[in-house]
Amino acid sequence: MTQHDVHSSSHGDQLIQSEPGQQNGSRPWPVIVTRRLVKTYILGETSVYALRGVSLKVYPGEFVAIMGPSGSGKSSFMNLIGCLDHPTSGDYFLAGMPVSRLRPDDLADIRNRRIGFVFQSFNLLVRDTALTNVMLPMIYAGICQRSSPGENNNVSPSHAPW
Ligand SMILES: Nc1ncnc2c1ncn2[C@@H]1O[C@H](COP(=O)(O)OP(=O)(O)OP(=O)(O)O)[C@@H](O)[C@H]1O
Ligand SMILES: [Mg+2]
Repeated sequence: MTQHDVHSSSHGDQLIQSEPGQQNGSRPWPVIVTRRLVKTYILGETSVYALRGVSLKVYPGEFVAIMGPSGSGKSSFMNLIGCLDHPTSGDYFLAGMPVSRLRPDDLADIRNRRIGFVFQSFNLLVRDTALTNVMLPMIYAGICQRSSPGENNNVSPSHAPW
């Protein structure tokens, strides 16, 4: 995937904004900004250049489809913007936070609190019920507790952060 500056950036290398909002009362801040993202897989002595510098901005409320032939790097790109993987180089800002070089635990926290995934192969835990699978992110976030079989599984909406 090679895409250069779909929207050129007018900001410096530091794009620090705690939440998406309005910039100078005009256009909202982009919720996703990637700058020259590169992903290279090393397979033995072979380098696979999956992403060769992808720059993109996505604004709040936008719906974006990433399309391309098989092997063009769609999953590699989704893994990066979903905070599942690190880029080889380049920057990624999520809601203004520079996340491309965060530690795995911090990335896990962002995935838990800020990102929703719908995987092609659902990635459910077969040993757990559908309800527990749905509750699991909230259990990890400390919002509710795993319950015993037969126990009332009520989760109070007042404890949820949304
Ligand atoms: N973990 C990996 N290790 C080595 N090479 C990889 C890895 N993941 C992807 N690749 C390679 O990177 C390139 C991009 O793959 P990627 O899976 O991102 O493409 P894709 O657009 O999602 O393809 P598809 O439409 O088939 O899902 C391909 O050449 C692929 O073989
Ligand atoms: Mg794919």
